[in-house]
Amino acid sequence: MNLPIKHFKQLPLFEAEAEPLVASQPTDNGRSSFSDPAFATNKTLPVHRWVPWIAGFSREFVRGALKQYLNHQGIVLDPFAGVGTTLVEAILLGHQVVGFEINPYAAFACQVKVNAYQSSIESLHDEIERFQSFYIEKVSSDYVPNSAPPKEFKTRARFYSPQVLRKVLILHDFVDSIKDNQLQNLFRIAFSSTMVRYSNYSYEPSLGRRVSAGKEEIHDFSVGRAIVEKLLEIAQDISWLQDHLPAKEVNAKIINDSFFRYQNYLVSESIDLIITSPPYLNNYHYNRNTRPQLYWLGYAQGPQDLKPLENDNFGKYWQTVREQESLSLTFSLPHSDIEERLEALREINAQRGIYGGNGWANYAASYFNDCYGFAIGVKHILKPGGTALVVIGNSILQGIMMPTDKYLGQIAEHIGLELVKIDIPRATRIGNSIIQSNVRVAKAKDSHRLYEAVLELRKR
Ligand SMILES: C[S@@+](CC[C@H](N)C(=O)[O-])C[C@H]1O[C@@H](n2cnc3c(N)ncnc32)[C@H](O)[C@@H]1O
Repeated sequence: MNLPIKHFKQLPLFEAEAEPLVASQPTDNGRSSFSDPAFATNKTLPVHRWVPWIAGFSREFVRGALKQYLNHQGIVLDPFAGVGTTLVEAILLGHQVVGFEINPYAAFACQVKVNAYQSSIESLHDEIERFQSFYIEKVSSDYVPNSAPPKEFKTRARFYSPQVLRKVLILHDFVDSIKDNQLQNLFRIAFSSTMVRYSNYSYEPSLGRRVSAGKEEIHDFSVGRAIVEKLLEIAQDISWLQDHLPAKEVNAKIINDSFFRYQNYLVSESIDLIITSPPYLNNYHYNRNTRPQLYWLGYAQGPQDLKPLENDNFGKYWQTVREQESLSLTFSLPHSDIEERLEALREINAQRGIYGGNGWANYAASYFNDCYGFAIGVKHILKPGGTALVVIGNSILQGIMMPTDKYLGQIAEHIGLELVKIDIPRATRIGNSIIQSNVRVAKAKDSHRLYEAVLELRKR
């Protein structure tokens, strides 16, 4: 059922510009049985477009895989759910879903998406209208907002300019007044998915000051308009969801915890299909990059709340392990050059201390240790005959190529999974923070050696 969109009051428009979170990239699909797994196309698709996420994957890839690998109603797992591409596509095809996601903001986005079908569009429209009246009245008066910015959210430059901050706080006063929890969550998603756009920071793709990226600071912005536009998009998509969901009830479990604690939540041999993409070995710092959302949504009160996320993040982060003397593999892989490659990396740029090869070798070792734990987990929870499709990108650390796909495949075989194939649908990938940062030595020309692979693993 598509309700006619109500006519909303025109909100005053100030500067408006959209920051792409994920750069799009030409692809080479010629020789693969999978669609391009890159997230870019999701930005225009119902529900997926609500929350941009770096390194998310495309709904076409997931949809194609679900149809190819699961021809009955089953249980689909994404151990690294991000903002829920796998989960949303799986519920649209009538499957039960389970998602682990360590980042509370991303887990919240998953939760809101899979539950959104229960919201009444009419109530949402009423609430949007109520917001508009509230906002217009408060912005144009000498109203002093009750809400305050998160105390411990510290940034080098002020995150919001004073005029923008006042509008954001007015929005927060309104959100606090919403009685229905689900509607309130939709407003929180509308805010958190747009909040950086009107700040003095931007995603490049890591979060940095606008001025450092050659952009002007934002002194004023029509925050209300951005929120209303987002909410109208959400309302439209909820109506679309209600039309397209095959079942009355959705069976979805979102677990805001590390996948490595799977045994607390899942029984063995219970999952039919895994479609996932763990963090790449590129040190993209999900927690730092979502600090604005984590603090403003109340998931972080201070740095102490971010630390555990860093330690539990798949592969940890370079910053977390670079100072350790020598972090080695916790497993051995016969007939593999993984150890030699890590040692070669360790030797590079020793004079650069924590910025030299040893720090990166520590990071790579902790990454492959987690690949090992992940493979064990997959073997434990897949039903016999079940498949795991894992999208993973290779890396170049200090000029040394790390074929993460090959090593994960070897690890999977070593622990007794079948490596059915490694497919490379995306032969070039845009350079990541590893090759752009000045503390790292690999050159941008290496980007042509970056690719994304899909590993197909099967439980025997
Ligand atoms: C490549 S992204 C996945 C994006 C997802 N495919 C999507 O389309 O939105 C990897 C995700 O893994 C999450 N993550 C990292 N370590 C984790 C862990 N130990 N357990 C669960 N999730 C984790 C990160 O927060 C990040 O959202």
